[in-house]
Amino acid sequence: MNSPTRILFVCLGNICRSPAGENVMRHLIEQDGLQAQFEVDSAGTADYHIGNPADPRMIAAASRRGIVMTGRARQVKVSDFSDFDWIFAMDRSNYEDLLRIKNRCANPTVRLVSFCDFCKNHSHNEVPDPYYGGLEGFDEVLDLLEDGCAEFLQCWKDGTLR
Ligand code: 4NP
Repeated sequence: MNSPTRILFVCLGNICRSPAGENVMRHLIEQDGLQAQFEVDSAGTADYHIGNPADPRMIAAASRRGIVMTGRARQVKVSDFSDFDWIFAMDRSNYEDLLRIKNRCANPTVRLVSFCDFCKNHSHNEVPDPYYGGLEGFDEVLDLLEDGCAEFLQCWKDGTLR
């Protein structure tokens, strides 16, 4: 069997968007029975929340969709750029921070992409940071994540990932 596809979701704090991405993707993978084919994780570019669980507002919003939020925040590290096949950046600033690290890596093998490139039903260029906003922001994040994750998985199944 092929080695698993390894995906890392990255945002700023690793307590709202990227852990939600990790758990939305895992939820979809489990629905398809593809657990053996994937490894999914998340991290933050910042160190503010290392060791913390996800934000309770995101835990509650995900729970309403039947998604259980697991994991504790960690910061992105250089080895992520060779340990993962894909890094999904949530917003432009995350992407630029990640690109700067990638450019310092001796042998980066990862594909660094902007997550919203996979969204089929939304025209957003970024997954907006919900941290300082209202509760509706957390649902908007989940809408985008469900859209892009479903599309990524469909492309993976179709063999059309470029
Ligand atoms: P995240 O959201 O990047 O989606 O996890 C944030 C979490 C914390 C902060 C900012 C964004 N903060 O400034 O502490």
